[in-house]
Amino acid sequence: MKFFIKTFGCIQNTADSERIKAFYWNKGYEETDSWKRADLVIINTCIVRESAENRVYGLINLIHQFNVKFPISNDKKKRIKIIVTGCLAGLADKDKSGKKLAQLKRDFPEVSDFLPIEKISFKIDPIRDKKKISLIPISFGCSNFCSYCIVPFARGPEVSRPMKEILKEVDEVLKNGFKEVLLIGQNVNSYGADLMSNDQFPISNEMLVHMGKKRLRSSFHILLEEVAKKDLQKISFVSSNPWDFSDELIETIAKYPNIDRLLHLPIQSGDNDILKKMNRGYTAKDYLNLVKKIRDKVDGVRFSTDIIIGFPGEDEKAFQNTVDLCKKANFEIAYLNKYSPRKGTVSAKLYKDEIPQSEKKKRWNILNNLINRR
Ligand code: 5AD
Ligand code: SF4
Repeated sequence: MKFFIKTFGCIQNTADSERIKAFYWNKGYEETDSWKRADLVIINTCIVRESAENRVYGLINLIHQFNVKFPISNDKKKRIKIIVTGCLAGLADKDKSGKKLAQLKRDFPEVSDFLPIEKISFKIDPIRDKKKISLIPISFGCSNFCSYCIVPFARGPEVSRPMKEILKEVDEVLKNGFKEVLLIGQNVNSYGADLMSNDQFPISNEMLVHMGKKRLRSSFHILLEEVAKKDLQKISFVSSNPWDFSDELIETIAKYPNIDRLLHLPIQSGDNDILKKMNRGYTAKDYLNLVKKIRDKVDGVRFSTDIIIGFPGEDEKAFQNTVDLCKKANFEIAYLNKYSPRKGTVSAKLYKDEIPQSEKKKRWNILNNLINRR
């Protein structure tokens, strides 16, 4: 029996797919690089924007049409079996009314199962695809509820992996010859805030307000330091958020030269009203101050970012504020995402997606030329 896995979306999904692969190899399946030759196709989905979600449906339909045209045998059971996991399955699973799952089953009867990633098993040694970098998830889910974002609904609240388990995995990859690790979390630098009540860390669990958000103290810097002490050439982490970028974290980065100097720090918008509507907490000035503070303390640091273009209410002036911020922040790379309303999120409920596609495209080009094509 052969399986094929298609991974959409972010690096978290890529890391999950390495575990899904191990799960099916352990079950006796062999991997194939073409879905047409597979008995089982696993689709690891992304729904962060409508375009990503549509690509998932496109692939399901393609396989379905193939099944109808070229059945492996006339025995229905031997057609290519489709399993959907990742954020689409997570969203359906977390909708306790069961409506979302029922709807998906009605729309896609050709899918055998919508399995949330946790059900495919996580406590498993991954089959690492990347030869240089090992991907190490350190937390799952997100508790931030940025108003546009579906992730908290699809992946649930943030849950951190125990530090011991993470360090053990780092030791294992070192033993296997890896010299680089990428620590992964939707909000990677809030790692450990949810573990505080378990007394795992020697830090008080006081609440603090940082850059406009009420936070529990994170212990990411403690974990990062433990990883950096090991014999690794490069340690990177994604995605950080401004409100959890503590002074201790900056000090840790400054202290260990093997921590990557390219920091990914999503800004999303450079306009204060838009940032507020996005529930991001900080202002453009807060963000620039943070960037400056990091630049002052960490030699050679560079920044990459995520920006949403055409969020409702983003008029010319608001967009210009984003352009201005980008000039000041001097990003090395920006991942530019056109706003896509996601059903169930606050922004989709409250605001009309009023900026025309053509305008979003125009603004996308402006920022792309400014940042990515220098
Ligand atoms: N529309 C457009 N972009 C989005 N992102 C998240 N949700 C949306 C949305 N509804 C972007 C953000 C985030 C990145 C992973 O995806 O920029 O940082
Ligand atoms: Fe989404 Fe915000 Fe969480 Fe990132 S921090 S996953 S944008 S809710």
